[in-house]
Amino acid sequence: MRDSSHLARVPRFGRSVVLILFVLVVAVGVRAPALGDDPPWIARGHYGMVASDSAEASAIGARVLEEGGNAFDAAVATSLALTVARPQSTGIGGGGFLVAWLADEKRAIALDFRESAPMAATAERYARLAEFAGDGPSPSVYGGAAVGVPGLVAGLGHVHDRYGSREWVDLVSPAVDLAMRGVLVDEHLHEAIEDALKEADKWPSLRKDYAGLFGRFAPDGVVPSLGARIRRDDLARALRIIAIRGGGAMREGPLADAILRAIDKSGGIMMSADLRDYVVKEREPVRISYHGCEIITMPPPSSGGVCAAITLRALEAVGDFKGDPQREMLARVEAMKHGFADRSRWLGDTDFAKAPVAFLLNQDYGARVSDALKQSRTMKPEAYGTTEIKGSVGGAAKDDGGTSHFCIIDRAGNVVSMTETINGGFGSFVVAEPYGIILNNELDDFLTVRGAPNMFGLRQSEANLIAPGKRPLSSMTPTIVLRDGRPILALGGSGGPRIISSTLHVLLNVINDGASLEDALRRIRPHHQWAPDVVYFDEHPPTAMADAFSAFGHELSDERRKGVVQAIQIMPNGELIGGSDPRKGGRPVGVER
Ligand code: GLY
Repeated sequence: MRDSSHLARVPRFGRSVVLILFVLVVAVGVRAPALGDDPPWIARGHYGMVASDSAEASAIGARVLEEGGNAFDAAVATSLALTVARPQSTGIGGGGFLVAWLADEKRAIALDFRESAPMAATAERYARLAEFAGDGPSPSVYGGAAVGVPGLVAGLGHVHDRYGSREWVDLVSPAVDLAMRGVLVDEHLHEAIEDALKEADKWPSLRKDYAGLFGRFAPDGVVPSLGARIRRDDLARALRIIAIRGGGAMREGPLADAILRAIDKSGGIMMSADLRDYVVKEREPVRISYHGCEIITMPPPSSGGVCAAITLRALEAVGDFKGDPQREMLARVEAMKHGFADRSRWLGDTDFAKAPVAFLLNQDYGARVSDALKQSRTMKPEAYGTTEIKGSVGGAAKDDGGTSHFCIIDRAGNVVSMTETINGGFGSFVVAEPYGIILNNELDDFLTVRGAPNMFGLRQSEANLIAPGKRPLSSMTPTIVLRDGRPILALGGSGGPRIISSTLHVLLNVINDGASLEDALRRIRPHHQWAPDVVYFDEHPPTAMADAFSAFGHELSDERRKGVVQAIQIMPNGELIGGSDPRKGGRPVGVER
């Protein structure tokens, strides 16, 4: 097992080239291309790869692969390690989606272990709660009423029972060890704790009401220094219970009791039957063809797959932009606006709302994108997507602290692309004691109050109105790309609605432009989510790009929010290249034996 810091013995002739390039750099001031020494967020391997947004979680997953576990075993171990390593983003108090390619059977699967609304969660109740809260902290963002029934542990249990090969306890114990060592305070966690403290400055009641969270991560209101470790003996206890009780550990028993107590104490309405009756769902993945590839991604209750598919189909119809990067970016944003318009108007949990998925996947917005490009002008929001579909319910209508994505490939060629989340940074701020389980605030991904946008500024339709047992619409987009029936790329991301645009940009950079994974991950990512009607960038755009967008009639936001993508590329010679977005400090780890 090795990461990229142990890479590449540069051959003799290579050394001369490096020397020449070094002289060039000094003499002419050009930046030399890296020769065989990738940045630390790129890794190479031949027998397996794990790319997650935590170096420690990737290493734990890679060790499982090295010891003969398959991609599903490694997914269980990586996910539980992320519970410890990324408490601001994900964990056993949350849920997620998994898309996988089973190499032997040449078959794709999509698993849904997204949180669901408790049986007492009605739209009327949430409208009343919002009214009582007035200008205070939103009840769908903070506190027990924000918490959806967690599905992650049940999901991992399902993954292990159906597709895994190793003993469950062996997959849980590395996370227990990590919890005892403590979570490393890196830049992303440091920033997430600072953000939580800023929220508490806005609403001082938060610090008192969620003392369990602040006491653990910012004792005396002070953010631990970078490089410190916060021991999580509490979470280690919870993980030991999971090691013994398996995927049913959160249905009943001490962890379920702790969750219900915490939710009850903080204004929630979850009952023991909600936890006991939670089901993991196997769904049909969304599959579309794109430029000779097949894209396999997540269906509702994720909007990610459908939104991405609409965008890709439109771009394919528009054609090639080689040599005109500004025009290509404008086209990407035009196509994205159609995808997000349809997302907002029509999508929801298809087990509850009659979301017209097949209809939307057949839409071809290419002509409308081409038109806008010909006229050099973006259009009013009403001109995007489909405004009326017979018999369907729709029509009304954040940077990510939460959410974590990882990709895994094993030596047999099985591929896992999994995104998991507690939604906002540190979820609902509610902590189930004495286990330190941070509970999600996934119910904010529903339309909880008609007409109001959620914390990501997303507009939602009646199709995504909260209802008992329903799962909130998500943007999570775990994706696998096949060419000639073989996986060539796995990817997905975190970042609220930026999950979709970030995943799309990286996919397009690799598939359309032939960019290296390193370059594909580095490039700037314009984002437009239809409403509000502005273009966002994750970093300051180059002047030529900003000018092109302004001239096209776009309003440009000064807000700089990031999506974070993890990806693995499978090269034609079988080499695996893992990439962890430099925007969050993750590290891929390759397996070499
Ligand atoms: N909670 C973020 C998402 O599911 O889109």
